[in-house]
Amino acid sequence: MAKFFAMTSKGLVDVLEQELKDMGLQKLERGISGVYFEGPWAHCYRANLRSRTATRIILPILDFPAYKNEDLYHNIQKHDFTKYIPPNGTLAVDSMVRDSGVFADQRFVSMKVKDAIVDQFRDKFEIRPDVDSKNPDLSLIVRCNKNQFSVAIDTSGEALFKRGYRVGMTDAHVKEHLAAGILLMTGWDRKSPVVDPMCGSGTFLIEAALMALNVAPGTMRKGFAFQRLNGFQRDEYEAEVDAAISEELEELPFKFYGYDIDKEALKVARQNAIQAGVSELVELQRAPVETLPTPPEKGIMVVDPPYGERMGNPYELTDLYADLAHTMKTSFLGWECFVLSGAPELSKSMKLKSERKFPVWNGPIECRLLKYTMF
Ligand SMILES: C[S@@+](CC[C@H](N)C(=O)[O-])C[C@H]1O[C@@H](n2cnc3c(N)ncnc32)[C@H](O)[C@@H]1O
Repeated sequence: MAKFFAMTSKGLVDVLEQELKDMGLQKLERGISGVYFEGPWAHCYRANLRSRTATRIILPILDFPAYKNEDLYHNIQKHDFTKYIPPNGTLAVDSMVRDSGVFADQRFVSMKVKDAIVDQFRDKFEIRPDVDSKNPDLSLIVRCNKNQFSVAIDTSGEALFKRGYRVGMTDAHVKEHLAAGILLMTGWDRKSPVVDPMCGSGTFLIEAALMALNVAPGTMRKGFAFQRLNGFQRDEYEAEVDAAISEELEELPFKFYGYDIDKEALKVARQNAIQAGVSELVELQRAPVETLPTPPEKGIMVVDPPYGERMGNPYELTDLYADLAHTMKTSFLGWECFVLSGAPELSKSMKLKSERKFPVWNGPIECRLLKYTMF
């Protein structure tokens, strides 16, 4: 049994907690930017495989104060790291330091931690692990806030939002875990279409298709960091993968519809949908939002319009938001529409009263997911 922590972005803790509950994980405890759970390693494998909203699953191992270099070194040495990897294995340490006068340089912290671990191996086996920052067997995450250190083992490897289907990039896409989190927040039933009138690289549509098909996102990845740790339980992992795959649906009786004004963005969306294996379910069409016809099937509408921070000038965008509102009133009558707004002054120009506002963070940008029911 171990206590793991599923990390996510600010604003997604509620949906992450519900996801972990739904996959049968236990002793859930909310943290600031994620949710703790306790259980066997199989539960860690499951969370890595199935969570759509976690960015990483870590195993916290140490928490200690340190006021000088020696404190850091000795506290690391107190823990037995030789149980995690063989002495000829590889190691990486990622450190982040905040508000510490003594440990201002995070590269120095990483080096000190690595030295303490390497010395421990050398004393015990006369062999030491090498550092491999790209593809390590043991990846450690060190955080120092003021003078309080926490050390955790990364069980995921590459961040979990990197599902592996994004072959093309557009200027401003939402990350996969945020798109999935937003879809979960909407309360969408997974049995009806999702329409995105400014779909860009297609993230909402692809995440929605994967959700409706019940495809566990981790089954699309090459692998996870936990597979390289000593004691990896291959049978348990394969049982988790088989269980996830057995729950997938073959087909759906409805589709996902995406529109955009930009031909290049649609090309990227198409490539991404192909890579994700959902291209037959995703219908893409070039159309400006100003004159968007009512989509062929009724469902929910989710959109992430440009908001100036990363795309366009806010002054030029007010008309676009007014046009979006007009299209919602004409082509989406009777629909629930969700607009991710990163700029309150722009959503105000829609001149529609939102029924609910969910706070979410798109990277460092504080946003609101606004819900409108179009009567
Ligand atoms: C913030 S991006 C959407 C990103 C998308 N959610 C993703 O994950 O890739 C906004 C999109 O709105 C599109 N857009 C801008 N003006 C438009 C218009 N008048 N009609 C339709 N789409 C428009 C842009 O081409 C861009 O792809």
